Amino acid sequence: MITLARARALLDQHLGANPALRNHSLATGAIMRALADRFGEPADDWEALGLLHDLDFEQTRDTPARHTLETVEWLRPEGVPEPYLQAIVAHNEATGAVRADRLAHALAAAESVTGLVMACAFVLPDRQIASVKVGSLRKRMKEKAFARNVSRETILECEKIGIPLDEFFALAIAAMAPLQETLIARTGPAFAAPVAPSAPPAPAAPAASGESGRSAGAPGAASTTGSTGS
Ligand SMILES: [Fe+2]
Repeated sequence: MITLARARALLDQHLGANPALRNHSLATGAIMRALADRFGEPADDWEALGLLHDLDFEQTRDTPARHTLETVEWLRPEGVPEPYLQAIVAHNEATGAVRADRLAHALAAAESVTGLVMACAFVLPDRQIASVKVGSLRKRMKEKAFARNVSRETILECEKIGIPLDEFFALAIAAMAPLQETLIARTGPAFAAPVAPSAPPAPAAPAASGESGRSAGAPGAASTTGSTGS
């Protein structure tokens, strides 16, 4: 398997100019690492998978059905095992690939939940990922207009690998919180909320409740509207 250092280098090489997608990949990697720990799987390898899953996003922007196929071509010579490559391909439903194992479901659910967690953090007064509550995520799951392009169905694939939704939310928050400075604070209002390439990214809808006065569609998050995923 590819090393984490090499995975990070490839991420910077291919997505270094796209902070939103780089951050999305970092967040996905962190959740994948936590999932690997949960399952007793190799944490570095699962994190690397998360870092690499959208590597060809820029190159396939106009050919969404090709998204992930280029990545696989790049990663196969790097020694990334076939199940990992298949998980990458299967996270883009436009390829026609079907998610058939735990690794594939984990990757799809992980990369999807990043967008919901980030959108929820954005509408909090302190914008802290650690302040996001499982209950808020559960509530936002039902609000279709909130982070509307985040696939709820894909997030729910956590249950196909034996992780109840609430536990998955808690795991995602805990995994992403240490990345706070990278994901939000350092980039501030210019930060573009992470995308969920299994569906076009979108900003969250304006806060519908008294959760905060800030709209997730405010600076940064709104800038993701135009990017498209797989
Ligand atoms: Fe992704």
